[in-house]
Amino acid sequence: MLPTLASGSKQDSPLALDYQATTPCAQEVVEAMSAYWSEHWGNASSRQHRSGLTAAAAVSLAREQLASYMRITPEQVIFTSGATEANNLALLGHARAKAEQRGAPGHLITVATEHHAVLDPLRQLQKEGFRLTELQPCADGILAPEQLAEAFENDTLLVSVMVANNEIGVIQPLKELSELCRNQGVVLHSDAAQAFGHKHLDLDALGIKLMSLSGHKLYGPKGIGALVVNPEVPIKPLQWGGGQERGLRPGTIPVPLIVGFAKAAELAFKDLTSRQEKLSQLRNQLWDGLKERLPDLILNGSLEHRLPHNLNFTVPGVRGSSLHRQLRPLIACSSGSACSQGEPSHVLMALGRTSSEAEASLRLSLGRDTSAKDINQAVESIGNVVINLRAR
Ligand SMILES: Cc1ncc(COP(=O)(O)O)c(C=O)c1O
Repeated sequence: MLPTLASGSKQDSPLALDYQATTPCAQEVVEAMSAYWSEHWGNASSRQHRSGLTAAAAVSLAREQLASYMRITPEQVIFTSGATEANNLALLGHARAKAEQRGAPGHLITVATEHHAVLDPLRQLQKEGFRLTELQPCADGILAPEQLAEAFENDTLLVSVMVANNEIGVIQPLKELSELCRNQGVVLHSDAAQAFGHKHLDLDALGIKLMSLSGHKLYGPKGIGALVVNPEVPIKPLQWGGGQERGLRPGTIPVPLIVGFAKAAELAFKDLTSRQEKLSQLRNQLWDGLKERLPDLILNGSLEHRLPHNLNFTVPGVRGSSLHRQLRPLIACSSGSACSQGEPSHVLMALGRTSSEAEASLRLSLGRDTSAKDINQAVESIGNVVINLRAR
C-alpha cells in the first residue's frame, strides 16, 4: 500500500532550502501534461491514426521548444529518463564508439567534483580498459584551463566537465575549456542538470558537443531528461529496441513527461534574468546574515562564479551529525548531493575539507518562492542551532 500523507503536515514542515535536490512540479506544468495522461494517450510512434499523430505532434513541438533555448536543432535532442541516463549514454556511448573506430580504448578526463552520474560511468569505462584522469579543481572549486591543457594525452577521447556543480554551485569556465578540447580534436561533454533553466546556455558559443539535462531541477516532472548530441559526434546506444530517438534511446517515449519538460523550460526561461537577480540578492542576504552571526563559517566554492540560488559552507567546531539532527525540524537542507548515500561529500573533500568538516557542512538551495522572510528565518535557525551546539 502507498504511504498516506499526514494531514496538517504542511503547517509543521521545515523551511524548504533543498531545491537543488529537486523541485516541485509547477502548476502550469501539471496542467500542460494533464491531457496527455488521459485524453491524448496515443503512442507517439503510431503514425497510422490520429491519437498517435497528436502525441507525435506534441513531442515534436516540445523538442523544438527545448532546442530553441539552447540554439540547437530539434534533432539534437534525445529524450532520456533524466540526466543520469543522459550522462551514461554520452560517456559510455561516445567512448565505446571511439574505441571501436580506433580499435583500442583510450584516455578520458574529468574533474573530481563531478556528480556520481558522471564519475561512475567513467569508472565503469576504466574497468573496460580506458584510462581516466580525475583532475582536482582549484580551492574555489573551479577547474583552471591550464590544468586541462596539461592533462591531454595523445589518445584522449573525451572530456567531461559539468556546467554548474550540484553541491557548491560553482560554474566552470566552459568556453575556455571547450576551446582547448577543440584544438585537441576531443569531444567535450557537460552535465547541465543543475544549470539548464537556471542559466542561458548557447551550445555553439560554449562549444559543448554533448550535454545532459534533467526535468526535475527546473520545476518539471521527475523521470524525464535529455542528451543533446551534436550530429558530428559518434555514439553507440546502450540499449536496442524499436529505434525511437534516432536509435540512441529506444523505448516508447513518455509523451506527458516530455510535454511537461518543455513547459517547465518555457517557464524557467521566461523570467530567468530577473529571477537570477532576485535569487542572488537573497542568497547574499543569507550569507551576509550568517557571517554576521557566525563569523568563522567557511564558504565552499567561489562566490563569484556560482549559481545564484546556491550556498554551501562548513561550520567549524560542531559535529555534522548533531548539526543536521538539530536543524532537521527547522530547515530541509542537505550536507551534499541527494545521491551521495550518506558518505561525506567527495566534492567538499576535493576542495580540501576533512571528512568531519565535510559532514559539518550545509548546502542551502533557494527556490522560486523563497522570500526575504524565509532567509531571515534560516539565519535565525542556523545561528541558534550552531551557538547552542557550541555552548554544550
Ligand atoms: C549534476 C547532476 N547530474 C546528474 C543528476 C541526476 O539527474 P537525474 O535525477 O535527472 O537522473 C543530478 C541530480 O541530482 C545532478 O545534480
